[in-house]
This record gives sequence, structure tokens and C-alpha cells, in this order.
Amino acid sequence: MARAAATRTKRRSSGQTALDVLKSDHAEVKKLFKQFEKFKKSEDSEGMQQVAQAACKALSIHAQIEEEIFYPAFRECADADDALDEANVEHAHVKELVKQLQQAQPGEDLYEARFKVLSEYVQHHAEEEESTIFSKARKSDVDLVALGEQLLARKEELAAGQEPADIAALAAREQTRKRDGQSVRGHRS
Ligand SMILES: [Fe+2]
Ligand SMILES: [Fe+2]
Repeated sequence: MARAAATRTKRRSSGQTALDVLKSDHAEVKKLFKQFEKFKKSEDSEGMQQVAQAACKALSIHAQIEEEIFYPAFRECADADDALDEANVEHAHVKELVKQLQQAQPGEDLYEARFKVLSEYVQHHAEEEESTIFSKARKSDVDLVALGEQLLARKEELAAGQEPADIAALAAREQTRKRDGQSVRGHRS
């Protein structure tokens, strides 16, 4: 109860649990990984870079809210020490790849390889989180809705301090890629 009271905030409730918030982040980056592959196929370096930068920003914020809020909430009450230690080690690797990608551009040595490894690594990490840590979280007495509110509030705060990813520009580029792909196929037939 004390933990639930401590994690309650005055922010308007979204009703999302911490697990909903984190799962939707996982789904968002998986979508960006797929989008990167499409731009790679059409050899659109600018598109690849926009997607990679958006994924790097999303992953940095996601890792930070997990480390600051989500993981500590289960340290003492969910018998999750080993899983949380592994997750922290995986985050360190993810952050190193993110840093390397943020300082590089498509076409440079290892850029695409680093993004590929990042995407495989993150997908593995997210699956582990959703199976191991989330199931321990569900069995704990932590107020997951209050924790979800905390995660969302911190996420907003961190996103406000960063240049926003240009999702609209990405969507427009994706539309152009699809349209051009269709017209190329149209010409061929
Ligand atoms: Fe994580
Ligand atoms: Fe995660």
C-alpha cells in the first residue's frame, strides 16, 4: 500500500499499466526496425537515417524510464534480481550501439550492421522482458497503473528535452516509397 501511495501522481490517469506503456514502446521500435529494412531495400539513405535516429531516441528514453522507475520497483518485491541484472547489462550494450549509430551515417562502415545487431538485440531483450520481468511484475503487489503513470510522466519529460523525431516526415517518405514502388511495378507490367 505504501508503495502504491508513493507512486500515485496527480497527473490525469491514462489507465495504462506500466506493462502497457512498455509494450507499446517495444511495438513502436519494432515498427521502426521494419521501416529501416524497407528503406534499406530501396537504397534510401536519408530514410534509413531518419528511422535510425527515431529508433535511437525512442530506445534511449525507453531504457532510461525502465532503469529509473520500472526496474527499481521490482528489485525488492518480485524475486527478479537476476533478470533485472541481465536486463541492465543488455541495456549497456544497447546504449553503446545507439551512441555509435548517433555519431554515424548510412554508407559509413558498419552502419547497417550495427543497426541490424541493435534491432536483433532489442527484439531479444524486449521478448525476455515481456516474458520474465513482466510475469514477475504481474505477481507482485506493485500498483502497475500508478507505475504506468510515472513512466508516462517521465517519458514526456525526457522527450521534451530532446529534438522530436520527425515522424510526419518519416510517414511522408514512407508514402513516397510505396507510391514510387507501385509506379515502378506499374511500368514493368
Ligand atoms: Fe529494457
Ligand atoms: Fe523494454
